[in-house]
Amino acid sequence: MATGLKKAVQLRAMGPDDLSAAYELSREQQWPHREKDWDRMLDLGQGVIAESEGRIVGTTMWWTFGEDVASIGMVIVSKDVQGQGLGRQLMNAALEQIGERTVLLNATAEGLNLYRALGFETVSSVYQHQGAAFSVPIPELIPNERVAPMKAGEISDIVELDRHATGLNRGRAVEYLCSYTQGVVLNRDGNQAGYALFRRFGRGYAIGPTVAPDIGGAKALISHWLGSNAGMFCRLDVPDDSGLSGWLDEMGLPCVGRVTRMCRGTAPQAGVLARTFSLINQALG
Ligand SMILES: CC(C)(COP(=O)(O)OP(=O)(O)OC[C@H]1O[C@@H](n2cnc3c(N)ncnc32)[C@H](O)[C@@H]1OP(=O)(O)O)[C@@H](O)C(=O)NCCC(=O)NCCS
Repeated sequence: MATGLKKAVQLRAMGPDDLSAAYELSREQQWPHREKDWDRMLDLGQGVIAESEGRIVGTTMWWTFGEDVASIGMVIVSKDVQGQGLGRQLMNAALEQIGERTVLLNATAEGLNLYRALGFETVSSVYQHQGAAFSVPIPELIPNERVAPMKAGEISDIVELDRHATGLNRGRAVEYLCSYTQGVVLNRDGNQAGYALFRRFGRGYAIGPTVAPDIGGAKALISHWLGSNAGMFCRLDVPDDSGLSGWLDEMGLPCVGRVTRMCRGTAPQAGVLARTFSLINQALG
């Protein structure tokens, strides 16, 4: 409940020492992020903290993908000071630093009005699926197709594939993720046609990003991780056009939430040979 922001609020850059307080804010929202997840995100991006009398009451973070695009996430205002303009101040601070870039974000229902007022437009939806798969059918592979562990020497090709699928220059993020995650590659006719990463996140594990040429390829990649981690709590955030929602429900990973994908500026142009079937996470996109 709003109690009034009686004391002055200062905005300043987020640093590693702020992460335990930031983690408490996300816990207050019942978001699943561990402090380590915040830490990983700060490694890749920047943030702003709102502080009132030494207490951290708000956060926002952003990640740049080359010169043209950025993503905003982890926008949180402590419940007791919501509705008093702090969310807007945090967003304005982030947008000022991001500059002229196109900005993408995935909005909760609570954030929608704020983002619309700041010029963001709805693009699509993203569904959050999570749970444990106990029995995962062996995927039907097409001739000359296989799913194999990603090798270090393949990462530069994976970065190119990712750029094609997303229209984003997020090589730094993909390389960083590959440094601490496990990855598999979808190989078709001797070429890398898709990939999927698997890592610790929140209450269990996250499968993402998943990039594939088609839904069959995406299912093959995701089945690899679900099948080799049967009974483990896994999460995927899948775009509505992925077509994966019904299949994930059947696998034992029901849809537990939906966010609205929004864009401010010129939307990035993805290629046609591969597309995104699951996000890195809702914040980074
Ligand atoms: C979304 C959030 C960051 C907004 O912060 P805030 O400080 O309360 O927002 P502000 O006071 O700056 O309000 C900005 C606008 O947001 C809208 N807004 C604020 N809270 C809202 C709510 N609970 N529901 C719907 N709209 C809301 C209002 O339209 C307001 O516009 P106005 O100033 O013209 O009335 C905050 O509600 C929050 O932390 N929510 C939980 C975490 C979350 O969902 N974050 C968004 C992730 S994408």
